[in-house]
Formats: sequence, structure tokens, C-alpha cells
Amino acid sequence: MEIIGETLRNPVTNGRKAAPARLGAIAVVGLGYWGPNWVRNLNHLGCAERVIACDLDAGRRERIAQLYPNTKTTSHFDRALADPEVEGVIIATPVGTHYEMARRALEADKSVLVEKPLATSPAEATDLVELARDRGRVLMVGHTFEYSAPVVKLRDIVASGELGEIFYISSTRANLGLLQHDVNVAWDLAVHDISIILMAMGQVPEAVSCHGESHYRRGIEDVALLTLHFPRGVLAFIHVSWLDPNKIRRTTVVGSRKMLVYDDTAPQEKIRVYDKRVDVQRYYDTFGDFQYSYRQGDIQIPRIDETEPLRLECEHFVDCIRNGATPRTDGLSGLRVVSVLHAASLSLRNGGRMTAVEIPPVGAL
Ligand SMILES: NC(=O)c1ccc[n+]([C@@H]2O[C@H](COP(=O)([O-])OP(=O)(O)OC[C@H]3O[C@@H](n4cnc5c(N)ncnc54)[C@H](O)[C@@H]3O)[C@@H](O)[C@H]2O)c1
Repeated sequence: MEIIGETLRNPVTNGRKAAPARLGAIAVVGLGYWGPNWVRNLNHLGCAERVIACDLDAGRRERIAQLYPNTKTTSHFDRALADPEVEGVIIATPVGTHYEMARRALEADKSVLVEKPLATSPAEATDLVELARDRGRVLMVGHTFEYSAPVVKLRDIVASGELGEIFYISSTRANLGLLQHDVNVAWDLAVHDISIILMAMGQVPEAVSCHGESHYRRGIEDVALLTLHFPRGVLAFIHVSWLDPNKIRRTTVVGSRKMLVYDDTAPQEKIRVYDKRVDVQRYYDTFGDFQYSYRQGDIQIPRIDETEPLRLECEHFVDCIRNGATPRTDGLSGLRVVSVLHAASLSLRNGGRMTAVEIPPVGAL
């Protein structure tokens, strides 16, 4: 079992002299569905002198040029990498391209933020972690929900012990679409739940089992059910689907003292803590006396001040580049999530067999 440690300062970049307030330039690669959100935040935050937006598709570039006239667009990733003022590169291209593009950016001595998931295999993810360390550059992964205030609250409540001993977690992320071409629903959607659950548990599961089925694209499962097996019998169930009539984004954490429900689709009051549990009478004289009682207490709704998670993520990436800090969602965090997904894929191919999660060693950390 691997315990996830506190954020450490990057030993490589530690001790550099303080960086200037704004970055020279930052490049966003991939302007499809998600990349424009990065361009929007970078422009609004004004944290770089220049924002460069890159996509192979002329239509996507034109759209960005219309929305953000100050943003220079290009179809050439290499040109962005050759620009000496570019200090950070944000990669929001399809998953299958992440490793290659991140590697090229790190080799060009740029700090890199790779959208989730970091790569398509633990071996690729490990390689990126090692390369970033060797080059003394920031490697961050876009586990956006780890920057969401309700998720941070969930993590804090679990860590405070208020829920008691955690029995199990159950998470559903379902809606109709968007069917992906290159990755299955686990690599597309469950990646969010895995990152949330690892953050809440502060550890990596020992094993995973996964069932799924593809109904539209051969070999690309559009519905999947993952079970993460943590030490001491703690289970986390993740149900993900692109084929559900309703948009569901709900995580339930069941503890021995209280239970918590996080509903990300709720317009407000996303977290509710239920003072509900099963009590077992400690002493009884005869078997007839033995009984459970069900506590039905109050529901608490913690106050949560929300800021767009991507904005916080964007600020954090820029801060990490400027100050040489290790991101909250660093390359190792990306590697852990990819290792869980990899074990899930192996399990899926083996009829749902329980499969150990193995995190490859990262050389001399
Ligand atoms: N963090 C989140 O909440 C979140 C949400 C959605 C998507 N994502 C991630 O963002 C990434 C992109 O997803 P999407 O839905 O926007 O995909 P998309 O297919 O809509 O867009 C990808 C874009 O990348 C461009 N592209 C592909 N190869 C390129 C190359 N070599 N050089 C330049 N441009 C290239 C394509 O032309 C396309 O416009 C994925 O990794 C996905 O998992 C993250």
C-alpha cells in the first residue's frame, strides 16, 4: 500500500531565485472541447505576457482568435516549443498524444501541465516523471476535481475523522455522451473519481476489479464498474457511463459514525453530512436481546465558497513554475491514477479478475 505524502517542495527546482511576477509566455495545445477553457482562464488571469494557442484544426484556431484577439494561434507545436519565452505548456489534446507531446515539451525545457489522464500506461507516466525531474521542470496533471472546493471539503471531513472509520465509497459519473474515440469510459470519466478517492483516502488501492461493455465502438467500453480494494476491507465502487439518461455526479462516503453525500450537479449545498449510522448494542443477555438500532440524526450542510476549479489549477501551475514548488497534482499523482486505470484495464480484459495495482518505482526520488 502506498500512502500519499504531503506536497513536497521540488528538490530540483528548490532554491532558485524568485521568478518575475508574470511568465513570459504560456502555450495551450489542443483547442477542442476543453482547451479553450485554459485559454479563457489564462487570458482572464493575465499571468503571462503572451498566450499562444495551438491546434492542427484551422476552425478551432479561428474560433480562439475571434474570442481572444491578443492570443497568437499556430498549427505548429514545434514553433511554440522553440519560442524561448514560453515557460509553460498546457496539453489538452487527445489522451493518446499526451505522452509524446509532454515528452517533447520537457525535452525543450518547458514546464508542462498534461490534461487527465497523464499518459496511457504506467511506463509512460514514469518516464515523464523522471524526465521532468531530470530537467528540473514542473510536471503537473489536470486532475481538476482536486481543485474543487467541495472535493477539498470532502477530503477534510474524511481526514478529520468525523465520519468515523470509512466503510466504503460509492461514486457515479454518468450522462448521455460524449463518446470518445481513443479511450474507454474508465479512462475518460473514472479518472476523475479515482483522483478524488485517492485524495480522500490518502492512499492507493491494493487491487482493482473492473467490468464493462462496449455497445457502440468495438473495444471502447461505454459503461464500466470499477471496484477499488483498499487495505482493511475498505471498498470504493465507481460506476461510469456515457449511456445514461441523467447526468449524475454523486459520491457517497459511508463511515461508522456518519455518512456524506457529495452531489456535484447540485447548484448549491453540494455536500451533506448525515448523522446516520447503525448502532450495535454492546451488551445483551440473550440472543433475543441482540439488536441493531438505526440512528437517524440531523443533516449538516457545510458552507462552501466555490471558485472555478480550473482557475485555481491555472494559478497553481503558474505559481509552481514561478516558485519551483511541486504541484498538488504532480506527475506522481498522475502516475498513481494511471496505475489504477491500467490495473482496471487488465481486469476488464480478464473478466473482472481482481488485479493488483502496481506503481512502478521512479528512479532515486
Ligand atoms: N479536466 C477536465 O475536467 C477535462 C474535461 C474534458 C476533457 N479533458 C481532457 O482534455 C483533453 C482534450 O479533450 P477534448 O474533449 O477537448 O478533446 P477534443 O478532441 O475535443 O480536442 C482535442 C483537440 O486537440 C487537437 N489536436 C490533436 N492533436 C494535435 C496536435 N498534434 N497538435 C495540435 N493540436 C492537436 C485537435 O485538433 C482537437 O481540436 C483530454 O485529455 C481530456 O481527457 C479534461
